[in-house]
Amino acid sequence: MTDIVTHRNRIAVVTGAGRGIGAAMALEFARRGAKVVAVDLKDPSVTVQTIGPNAIGVAADVSDPLGWAAIDMAAKEAFGDVDIVVNNAAYYPNHAIDDLDFETWRRTMSVNLDAQFLSAKQFVPGMRRKKWGRFVGISSNSIGLTVPGMSHYMASKMGIMGFMRGLANDVADDGITCNAVLPGLTHTVATEAQGEEQRRATWQTQAIKRFAEPEDIVGPVMFLTTDDAAFMTGQALVVDGGQYRVG
Ligand SMILES: NC(=O)c1ccc[n+]([C@@H]2O[C@H](COP(=O)([O-])OP(=O)(O)OC[C@H]3O[C@@H](n4cnc5c(N)ncnc54)[C@H](O)[C@@H]3O)[C@@H](O)[C@H]2O)c1
Repeated sequence: MTDIVTHRNRIAVVTGAGRGIGAAMALEFARRGAKVVAVDLKDPSVTVQTIGPNAIGVAADVSDPLGWAAIDMAAKEAFGDVDIVVNNAAYYPNHAIDDLDFETWRRTMSVNLDAQFLSAKQFVPGMRRKKWGRFVGISSNSIGLTVPGMSHYMASKMGIMGFMRGLANDVADDGITCNAVLPGLTHTVATEAQGEEQRRATWQTQAIKRFAEPEDIVGPVMFLTTDDAAFMTGQALVVDGGQYRVG
């Protein structure tokens, strides 16, 4: 058996890499040969220690342009120019429209959507020079479901799909692809508050009737960030056990 080295020498930024789906993706990028820049609000030291010397941690707020400059600088110092950006960090408070204030709306847009734009501004020039790059925005299958109290979140997650579609057109000539991944309900801290009954009600609406683990979301992201997916861009890939079907 040979090791899986689909990402050998690629430099991958993963935001929200301190836990959950982001941590699982960071570990898998490293297992497949990539150098990992793990980003979170606090230095994601557990993720970095688990990976070892092929990872660095950066404490940054992805809604802050200066945060992206710091991520770029740290990546260059440790490894070189970034090849892959997975925007996974998210802000997702639950507020029905009656309680949703403008500050919460703005923060949701800023963390979930501005970060996609800021990362593109930061890394497209370097990717153009290399004639290779990958952007993956983590959206959510909730955009197609009847989840109450999440209008701001759904708007931001639809925005990710729109931005990836548009960005794909602007960078296609330089070997850069841009896609969105839409996870379904996944077993992380984010969903811990839900009781067993509520989770089970969701599984019953999936073709595959079980709770997704973070690792279930990782494979499609790995695929999108290899040469295997070079002709796939501007797409939205749903990874939810067959709950919500696009098209
Ligand atoms: N868990 C689910 O059921 C589910 C379903 C659909 C989509 N998603 C999406 O998947 C992604 C990961 O979800 P998760 O459940 O692993 O989330 P999580 O809350 O467990 O982890 C998110 C990480 O992002 C970090 N983060 C938050 N704001 C940040 C900021 N401004 N700057 C930097 N880091 C920040 C957090 O500190 C945390 O470590 C999110 O985009 C989420 O919307 C999750």
